[in-house]
Amino acid sequence: MSEESKPEASKKGKGKARSGEGEMSNISNISRELVEQLLRANPSLAGEMQGMDSKKIEEVMRGMSLQDISTGMATGGKNQKDMASYKFWNTQPVPKFGEDEPLPDGPLRENDLARVKTVGAELIEGFEWDTVDLTDDQQVREVYELLTHHYVEDSEAMFRFNYSASFLHWALKAPGWIKNWHVGVRVTSTKKLVAFISGIPVTLRVRENTLQCSEINFLCIHKKLRGKRLAPVLIKEVTRRCNLESVWNAIYTVGVVLPKPISTCRYFHRSLDWLKLYETGFSPLPTTSTKAKQVTKYALSANPSTKGLREMEVKDLDAVHDLFTRYMERFDLVPKFTVEEIGHWLLNGGSKYDERIVWAYVVEEEGKITDFFSFYSLESSVLGKKETIRAAYLFYYASETAFSKSPDAKKELKVRLNALIHDALILAKKFNFDVFNALTLLDNTLFLREQKFGAGDGSLHYYLFNWRTSFINGGIDDKKNVDDENGSGVGVVML
Ligand SMILES: CC(C)(COP(=O)(O)OP(=O)(O)OC[C@H]1O[C@@H](n2cnc3c(N)ncnc32)[C@H](O)[C@@H]1OP(=O)(O)O)[C@@H](O)C(=O)NCCC(=O)NCCS
Repeated sequence: MSEESKPEASKKGKGKARSGEGEMSNISNISRELVEQLLRANPSLAGEMQGMDSKKIEEVMRGMSLQDISTGMATGGKNQKDMASYKFWNTQPVPKFGEDEPLPDGPLRENDLARVKTVGAELIEGFEWDTVDLTDDQQVREVYELLTHHYVEDSEAMFRFNYSASFLHWALKAPGWIKNWHVGVRVTSTKKLVAFISGIPVTLRVRENTLQCSEINFLCIHKKLRGKRLAPVLIKEVTRRCNLESVWNAIYTVGVVLPKPISTCRYFHRSLDWLKLYETGFSPLPTTSTKAKQVTKYALSANPSTKGLREMEVKDLDAVHDLFTRYMERFDLVPKFTVEEIGHWLLNGGSKYDERIVWAYVVEEEGKITDFFSFYSLESSVLGKKETIRAAYLFYYASETAFSKSPDAKKELKVRLNALIHDALILAKKFNFDVFNALTLLDNTLFLREQKFGAGDGSLHYYLFNWRTSFINGGIDDKKNVDDENGSGVGVVML
């Protein structure tokens, strides 16, 4: 774990193809020297292999593809499983490990609406399916309660995501949302909500193909019902409900390795209130530093400095939508938002919730919108204490600078994004956020280091259901360091 790294980041845990990508050869002939080199390049793999004798290590590595090793997959736990042991995922239309032949992009399963079951599979006795009605505040509260007590924690159980009710309204009622895709499992006798999974509709472009997808999120099972193979049942049920709407593809992100990531990004964290992060156990004090030095390191000026920067308003929607759409053409995996969706995601769902979730700013120069950036709020509870960490997550942004025709275009974009994100940090600090989080997606590799983001220990793997495409750069190199040379092809920010 590095200085800023925090376990909560390992949540569910968004091409410009690098040369050689797609050639995911397995290692058939492996020398001791190569093993050592690969292990040096992949500390998590090395950690997993501690204690194994060298013959066993060679054997395991022979079964992994170079791509798998270089994306930082470990072999232990989930990652160690061969395809046969992914009892559920093995039966699903997802790419398999070891199937490394480059094939054309396309669906993995033929679809037929007539074959989709009209009722859900039977649940174990004592439980029943429900469609959670998120127009009913009481039911939003129930999802909130389930997630608050049972959703993603870090590996040391120090922090847990704390999605607020307002957040859930915003995240799960995006334009075109489908009530039937908010799937719950209740105890038949008490009607207590004990499991949940959700989807929202999203149009994705994956390289040159446009897909009508569902974005799957908030899979959560009550702690007492874990390990009972309920997750596959929930996943199949939400799939069935998506299929009923003739939606056959989905995007989801997970912190663990499943068959098979289409990209892997890494979390980065930028302290805004270092002292609080230190006191809550979120950030350690590096042995080479002092508290005072740390506080100074992360100090920010009081006000942003970009000329023309102001809060985004409804009147900016068309201009922001246009800039966003053009900017996103530069990536391989992107959402295709309508003006209405941009309004929902960036203007806090029309500011109709109790609590503000998203902040969006534009830069206006001589009446023209040249840039925008946004971030959203997601707290984490510090378990065992009555404290929360207020985290701002970098959301979507775009800049006209990306379209510069100058030979120094990349440098210009880097300068501009550093200025914008620096202002985003200042604003987030003003709004009392403690930390600013970002992944190695979009053009983030151009500013993470300069803006003093520290690497987290969490990776976020991106998956597509029923769609094959070759690996998309996730903004990290073979050693999981920021890859500003190649950048990232990922342009989807998942909540
Ligand atoms: C994730 C969670 C729902 C899994 O439940 P569980 O009781 O441990 O798992 P089950 O016994 O029901 O099912 C195991 C199967 O689900 C798969 N699975 C587990 N977590 C998964 C995830 N997040 N996404 C997709 N599949 C997952 C496993 O790989 C396994 O399938 P396999 O045999 O093909 O490998 C549960 O641990 C949980 O609620 N955790 C806290 C919230 C969380 O992490 N949510 C996921 C956010 S992405």
